Amino acid sequence: MPKKLIIDCDPGIDDAVALCLALFDPRLEILAVTAVEGNVSAAQASVNVQAVIDFLDPPRSPRLGAATPCDAPPTADMRRLHGDNGLGNLDLPLAQLHHQHPAEKIICDEVRAAPEQVTILCLGPLTNLARAFQRDPSLPLMLDHVIISGGSLRCIGNVTPAAEFNMYCDPQAARAVFRSAATRTLIPLDVGEQVKLTLDIIEQLPADTTRAGRLLRHLIPFAFRAYRQHMGLENIFLQDVVALTAALHPELFETEEMAGDVETVGELTKGATIFDRRRQPLGRSNMAVAVEADAVAVTDSILRGIAEAGRAT
Ligand code: RIB
Ligand code: CA
Repeated sequence: MPKKLIIDCDPGIDDAVALCLALFDPRLEILAVTAVEGNVSAAQASVNVQAVIDFLDPPRSPRLGAATPCDAPPTADMRRLHGDNGLGNLDLPLAQLHHQHPAEKIICDEVRAAPEQVTILCLGPLTNLARAFQRDPSLPLMLDHVIISGGSLRCIGNVTPAAEFNMYCDPQAARAVFRSAATRTLIPLDVGEQVKLTLDIIEQLPADTTRAGRLLRHLIPFAFRAYRQHMGLENIFLQDVVALTAALHPELFETEEMAGDVETVGELTKGATIFDRRRQPLGRSNMAVAVEADAVAVTDSILRGIAEAGRAT
């Protein structure tokens, strides 16, 4: 039975690669893809979600949810790593923007239609999920699982010394989700950055006679150039693709139950994810946090997903 999945994302190159793999994975039923403001504006995220899905033309078209601006204007700019339009400045044809309901409404509708069966994979700031929980307070217990890409356990942040980007963009939403009754797993930067993808991945991308090949052969080289130019790295990380792999292969990740929360006001620490790992922690554990990944097996899974997307398009 394919896993029922909602993907909430802020495309972004790693989001788009995760989408490309998920849409053609026979183990998944993508019920909906909802856009959230983060790497790009709410409007651009909504356009990018539709443009990527229209271009890839998967066998089953998921419902789409539109992003609406985050309550606090974004103060972090990741366009140097994702391009001005979030997709490596790739101009995907876009017929016209389908009428899209707000993301939080789509999330509520799809979870209510399949109680305790839906996993939501959050690849961007947690704005939409927090709003869905406000809209329908019974939703946290109606979800099967929430998998969150982001936060940091020990490693330094990637947007400030203390904070990872998805948590930093909307720390109030992240705190609301961390404090909700939903069962959740966090895939922090620490684990995402254990999976270092090297240049040889480019030779393994599908041919550009395939739709997946055309998309990936633009996005991935852009990421390598951006990582080298702006971070001096010869490899890239695809944080969101690692989070997708956790949904497909949880056995490749070692997790620990922890009590986690999010700093929402600190001048220097806003968006930091804080875990009480003392012998007698104050609060009860509220999430599973990935602490290790089998990086070789995760990389193999990603390469198999890329090949499958090529075969399917
Ligand atoms: O910190 C990495 C995360 O922030 C990824 O999800 C990336 O796409 C950005 O959203
Ligand atoms: Ca993302």
